[in-house]
Amino acid sequence: MKVVIIIPTYNEKGNIERLIKILEEEIFPQIKNHDMNILIADDSSPDGTEQVVRELMKKWENIDINIGEKHGLGAAYVRAMTYAIDKMDADVMFEMDADLSHDPQKIPAFLEKIDQGYDFVIGTRYSQGGSIPANWGISRKMFSVFGNLLVRTILLKFSIHDWTGGYRAIKKEVFLKEKSELTAFRGYTFQVSFLNKAVRDGFKVAEVPIAFTDRTLGKSKIAAKEYIIDLLKYVITASIKEKLFGPFGKFLVVGGIGFIIQTVLYYLLVHNTNLLLGIANFIAAQFAIFSNYNLNNLWTFGERKSKGIKEYFAKMIGFFATSELGVFIIQSGIIQLCQILFGRKYAFEYYIFATIILLFYNFGAYNLIIWRKKPHK
Ligand code: GDD
Ligand code: MN
Repeated sequence: MKVVIIIPTYNEKGNIERLIKILEEEIFPQIKNHDMNILIADDSSPDGTEQVVRELMKKWENIDINIGEKHGLGAAYVRAMTYAIDKMDADVMFEMDADLSHDPQKIPAFLEKIDQGYDFVIGTRYSQGGSIPANWGISRKMFSVFGNLLVRTILLKFSIHDWTGGYRAIKKEVFLKEKSELTAFRGYTFQVSFLNKAVRDGFKVAEVPIAFTDRTLGKSKIAAKEYIIDLLKYVITASIKEKLFGPFGKFLVVGGIGFIIQTVLYYLLVHNTNLLLGIANFIAAQFAIFSNYNLNNLWTFGERKSKGIKEYFAKMIGFFATSELGVFIIQSGIIQLCQILFGRKYAFEYYIFATIILLFYNFGAYNLIIWRKKPHK
């Protein structure tokens, strides 16, 4: 595969020369099964980083440079990844800092995961075998550790240990899929949003533990305060969106539509016929179940929707069967009991009461059956 190591630079004249030499002389010769290349994403650094790189490009022809204006780390990556795919024909792209904080010796470990079929490989400082510099001050340590903990907690995604890190290997398919959505957060928050979208879309993520070391030359470009505000803005809006418009939110909307259908039909049957209330409810419920099944099938579980007429009917029978128990025994049962006890007059109140009980029953049933804790072996 064609691999492009993308290194964003802003005033990294001294570092970039050292890093490129290590990559070309020590690392690339170890890798036999991939075509290794370097792309420097420089934002017109005033220190002359570009000239240093152009000098090195004369010696090694697998180096390229992409120059742009300074709009932040994320913007530089989006621009450079587009370039790597369009102009260099990259299959896999690395993200890597220029300041030698990311140990280049780890590159083969990332590629091994790619070879195993993973789409998005992240270097993690916070899992077994990874670390942050021992000499970091307490505030920088807290900032980094709690920042990651915060992201994991708000997004409710605990299996990934390092959301903010910038040492990664990514297949081109992932970038092409998410590219259009990567324009909102152009600074360091890009790292979190990119990874989160890849997780959302089911790309396979692997972790490689890394020891992050402090830079010895130049200084960090992170603006801590802006970064944390930007990061909070992203994780909070993303988690609200995911909860509201994700499967759970859709499930609620579908259920709400079903409820309206059932209520209207029940009302019409109660006022226009002499059916027993329990029967009227049971009939009305069939239309709601039918609507729920189809909307869930098309929309909530759209990507997993039934293929072919046979599967459609088979799944529909299963859906009806599981819904009928609650509707018939609980909902219609309660309504009918109320009618026997108090007469037909409060048909609508019985219905609301029975529906609330049904919701509790469904919730309990889901907890017991679907999200039941698996017994330990
Ligand atoms: N082209 C470009 N444009 N490069 C940039 C920009 C920018 O606006 N901002 C930073 N860079 C480059 C730097 O030159 C360096 O090569 C790399 O991006 C990382 O920047 P640092 O300034 O060294 O970041 P850090 O060490 O403080 O931050 C580390 O931790 C972050 C949070 O965990 C890095 O590993 C980040 O990648 C990571 O997101
Ligand atoms: Mn750094």
